[in-house]
Amino acid sequence: MKPATEEETPETATPNPFMRAWGSCFAALYNPLLWRTERRGNAKRRANLIAGANGTVVELGAGTGHNLSHYPDDAELILTEPHEPMARRLEQHVARSGREATVLRAPAEDLPLPDNCADTVVSTLVLCTVGDLDASLAEARRVLKPGGRLLFLEHVAAEPGSRLDRWQRKAHGFWHGFACGCHTNRETEAAIRRSGLRIDELVNDRLEFEVPLIHPLIWGRAINP
Ligand SMILES: C[S@@+](CC[C@H](N)C(=O)[O-])C[C@H]1O[C@@H](n2cnc3c(N)ncnc32)[C@H](O)[C@@H]1O
Repeated sequence: MKPATEEETPETATPNPFMRAWGSCFAALYNPLLWRTERRGNAKRRANLIAGANGTVVELGAGTGHNLSHYPDDAELILTEPHEPMARRLEQHVARSGREATVLRAPAEDLPLPDNCADTVVSTLVLCTVGDLDASLAEARRVLKPGGRLLFLEHVAAEPGSRLDRWQRKAHGFWHGFACGCHTNRETEAAIRRSGLRIDELVNDRLEFEVPLIHPLIWGRAINP
C-alpha cells in the first residue's frame, strides 16, 4: 500500500466512505482514548498553558473541548473545528458547560476571521494533524494582534537518527490513517520559528500517552512581534 504523504492527507483528499465512518468513530473514541493521558498529567499541563490565554481567544481544532474548562472566565472564546463529528461533540460540550463560546467549522489553514482580531491563539495536539502546517501557522499569525500570543502544546518528531525516529517513520502510514491525519514526526518548533512568531517560552516534555510513538512533546508560548 502506498504510504500517505504530506500532500495527500485525509484533509486534502476526498475521504472514502470507510474513512468517513472511521472519522465518526474516532470522534466518539477520542475522550476515552485520552482519558488516562489527561488524568496522568496532561490536564494539569493544559491548565498551566491555558491560564495564559486572555482577551479574544481563537482555538484551532478544538476537538471535543478538552481546554474549555481551563479558560479564564473573561476570555471571549472562538473555537474552530473543521471535522463535523468533532464539531457536534464540541457544541454539546459547550452547551453542557454553560460557557459562552462560538464554534466555527473551519480548518486552521483558512480561518474565516479578520486580520489582527485575536489576543490569543491556542493549538493543542492539532499541528500534528493539520493538512498544511506552514499555512496554519501563517493563519494563526494573521489573526493575532501585534503582541498577541500563540499557546501551543504539540507532540513532535523524535531526535533524528534515534530509535524512536525510525519507529515514527515506519509507523507513519498506519498511525496517519488510524488517528485521522495525525503525523507522528512533525518538526513543529522549526515551523513556528519559520512563521515569524517568536517563541519566548518552550518546555520540552513527554506526553503521558500509552502509544510510545506519540512523544516527545513541546509546549509554550510564541509572540506575534
Ligand atoms: C488530536 S485532536 C486534538 C483535539 C483538541 N485540540 C485537544 O487538545 O484535545 C486533533 C484535532 O484537529 C482537528 N483537525 C484536523 N484537521 C484540521 C485542520 N486542518 N485544521 C484544524 N483542525 C484540524 C481534528 O478534527 C481534531 O479535532
